[in-house]
Amino acid sequence: KKQLPLAGQTWLITAGPTREAIDPVRYISNHSSGKMGYAIASAAQSLGADVTIISGPVNLTTPAGCRKVAVTSALEMHQQALALAASADVFVACAAVADYRISEVASEKIKKSQDSMQLNLIKNPDIVADVAAMANKPFTVGFAAETQDVEQYARDKLTRKKLDMIAANNVATAGQGFNSDDNALTVFSATDKKVLPLMSKTALAKQLVEQIQLTLQKSRGQ
Ligand code: PMT
Repeated sequence: KKQLPLAGQTWLITAGPTREAIDPVRYISNHSSGKMGYAIASAAQSLGADVTIISGPVNLTTPAGCRKVAVTSALEMHQQALALAASADVFVACAAVADYRISEVASEKIKKSQDSMQLNLIKNPDIVADVAAMANKPFTVGFAAETQDVEQYARDKLTRKKLDMIAANNVATAGQGFNSDDNALTVFSATDKKVLPLMSKTALAKQLVEQIQLTLQKSRGQ
């Protein structure tokens, strides 16, 4: 029997949104559905990889053969990602992680009183940058969700976060990006650029996994 191309590789994928609690009943979050990250997990699993998804709260079935670690906040996702990345060959950061969390979460439901109120936010750790800074780091692939100057911001994130690759999407275009069934990506490494046009997230994930595998092989001189 022929061996599958990703047999023997461990892939770790973050997916979905994070939720940052305000009080026991409220949170800050975003529109990520998890569809893109779960499609990548499924594509890598089908090619023989051992796949774990670190997932924020989503309404999706875990793809067959994949392991799921459920988290809620960015801090929880950060902790799980750093613990699991040490034994991963490839890390794909598809989650839409909240950049900030509430600095002091109220222990009781906040009561309505004044006409205006302020929430104090503090920066969350950058999960993909911290994984990329590990001594025994996996091949690290980030995403860039942009509404303008997509290529410039994506290349900036690739360099600043010391990533091996970055998949950029324009999340201002209707019918792609957050929560839709389709997406389009432009994938950058230090030396290459590859445009993956609008298609289903399922088909797109297969092409992205193929690009990751090709770039990984190149970086290992295979
Ligand atoms: O989930 P879907 O509905 O299918 O939508 C898919 C998607 C639009 C969410 C996905 O394609 C996507 O773009 N994911 C990344 C979203 C994002 O947060 O992008 P960013 O440009 O803000 O972050 C850049 C990179 O840093 C990302 O890899 C992100 O996971 C990572 N990050 C960001 C902040 C943080 N604190 N830690 C991180 O690891």
